[in-house]
Amino acid sequence: MRFDIITVLPGLLESPFAHSILQRAQKKGLTEIYVHNLREYSANKHKNVDDYPYGGGSGMVMSIDPFAACIEKLKGERDYDEVIFMTPDGETLNQTTANHLSGKKNLIILCGHYKGIDQRIRDIFVTREISIGDYVLSGGELPAAVLVDAIVRLLPGVLSDETSALSDSFQGELLDAPVYTRPAEWRGIKVPDILLSGNQAKIDEWRYDQALERTRQRRPDLLK
Ligand code: ADE
Repeated sequence: MRFDIITVLPGLLESPFAHSILQRAQKKGLTEIYVHNLREYSANKHKNVDDYPYGGGSGMVMSIDPFAACIEKLKGERDYDEVIFMTPDGETLNQTTANHLSGKKNLIILCGHYKGIDQRIRDIFVTREISIGDYVLSGGELPAAVLVDAIVRLLPGVLSDETSALSDSFQGELLDAPVYTRPAEWRGIKVPDILLSGNQAKIDEWRYDQALERTRQRRPDLLK
């Protein structure tokens, strides 16, 4: 699966993709992540990518031309399943969306900045608008990294234990059960006996009950 991310701050996206699971997935050839510097697509001699808003008001608006040049170049090289714009007014990202997008081949992700992007980019090029939550960040780069992470860990072969993505919170509508590791007792606080029992059927049952209880307490909306 291939991602092409378009941003004015490519440096912001270096670290998230250079470690751990995302790095390994790229090394194994399971995903390719390309970060494109929007400024390189500015025809302007100052490499500007934004301009004053028509109608006045504060803040700058990202211009249509650099985005159009970059998107059209990419689309001339291959077909894309979606052109996604990261924006707080998009649909809220959830596991269902991540699962769905993990079945795609090529995605373009646009990162906005300043006051927003010219509406015509959204109207003409964008096929999907995604928010990572009801709060406003300084730009779309961190949201893009969140989206890519949520998708890539679902690709076959990315996680070493193939079943572990399936038991994640949200994957089966329940939150995860609590987990413990050694020592079995720390400052007088013990790991639940059942986890030391060796009885896998009982452990599975306990985990299910814990997951259900945690979901009931924290996210009753998921049980509806
Ligand atoms: N850009 C700024 N805030 C955002 C958010 N919450 N989700 C997606 N993109 C954003």
